[in-house]
Amino acid sequence: MFLVKADIPALVLAPMDGITDAPMRALQGEIGAFSYAVSEFLRVSISVLPSRMFLREVPELENGGRTPTGLPVQVQILGGDPERMAQSATKAVRAGAKAIDINFGCPAPTVNRNDGGASLLKHPCRLRDIVRAVRTAVPISIPVSAKLRLGWDSIEPVKENARMAAEGGATWITIHARTRVQNYEPPVFWKSIGEVRELVNIPVVANGDIWNLDDFRRCQEETGCIHFMIGRGALANPALSFQIAQELGISAGKPSFEIREMSDWIPLLRRLIAYTDSYFGSSPAMTVKRLKQWLRIASNHGNFPYFDEIKRAENSEELLSVLTILTRSNELLHT
Ligand SMILES: Cc1cc2nc3c(=O)[nH]c(=O)nc-3n(C[C@H](O)[C@H](O)[C@H](O)COP(=O)(O)O)c2cc1C
Repeated sequence: MFLVKADIPALVLAPMDGITDAPMRALQGEIGAFSYAVSEFLRVSISVLPSRMFLREVPELENGGRTPTGLPVQVQILGGDPERMAQSATKAVRAGAKAIDINFGCPAPTVNRNDGGASLLKHPCRLRDIVRAVRTAVPISIPVSAKLRLGWDSIEPVKENARMAAEGGATWITIHARTRVQNYEPPVFWKSIGEVRELVNIPVVANGDIWNLDDFRRCQEETGCIHFMIGRGALANPALSFQIAQELGISAGKPSFEIREMSDWIPLLRRLIAYTDSYFGSSPAMTVKRLKQWLRIASNHGNFPYFDEIKRAENSEELLSVLTILTRSNELLHT
């Protein structure tokens, strides 16, 4: 089900806390060309996470671990205590998880102060012990992967950490080519991913700053990888996953849509509203917040031009009607 295998290319939808939740994963599963998606992280702090928490945060588990259109969803956990992580992974599997990912990249200060995410990059042996505990706790048919940054404040530790993740039994690793200190600032160090790929004998998924096909091709060249993860780029340009999948030879079809005109955003936004309603029930404040988060990324990193005009909309109908008026007048101007 989870096709990160040495010789089969894969394209993965990145986990993005507060953004790629179940409705967005459902939408990306419908319009994108991904091999699988990773859930937002679930934090294991002072107690083991109960199965109901996994079912609430990853509702796809009720559907065989897939979005409504069949995109597999891997469950991501985060924490520093091997035993609690292992027990939580067991609960996730009992709730229906078909694959587990462990987060060693989260830069959030609260998470890092409490022994989680990127802070583990300073402790390669602990990182290995966490992977090993989770690997040992869940059935061998369940892949266990690790998602790393390059290091805390330098890029060198990634080699040792990747080796340790492999030694702990990780089925594959994903590397976001930045340090924790960089947060999300440039540059990305794709070459380091390539060095790790040559060092470990498990598949490596390359991640970080793939915004367009040119970036993808450069990342491919610098890393030598055949597995890629994209996050913000897929939101800024919803056709990007198709373009990349076609280059990877894993999608024969055509994108189900293209954003030729700004009005093409409207049906996409309506699909997200429908999925949000179906997962969470109608919650106008939350829904409009989700639309704005998406459009902010599309405005900062893509070519969506109307963020200033929609950012004060109080509900999704208001947002859509402002957008409809703007796109119509723009189209009239150009006819
Ligand atoms: C708002 C936001 C939330 C994120 N949440 C997570 C998360 O829950 N788990 C995780 O492993 N990475 C998380 N990330 C990191 C992304 O998965 C990814 O590694 C990063 O954005 C770089 O990829 P990109 O340049 O394609 O977006 C998050 C990133 C952003 C911007």
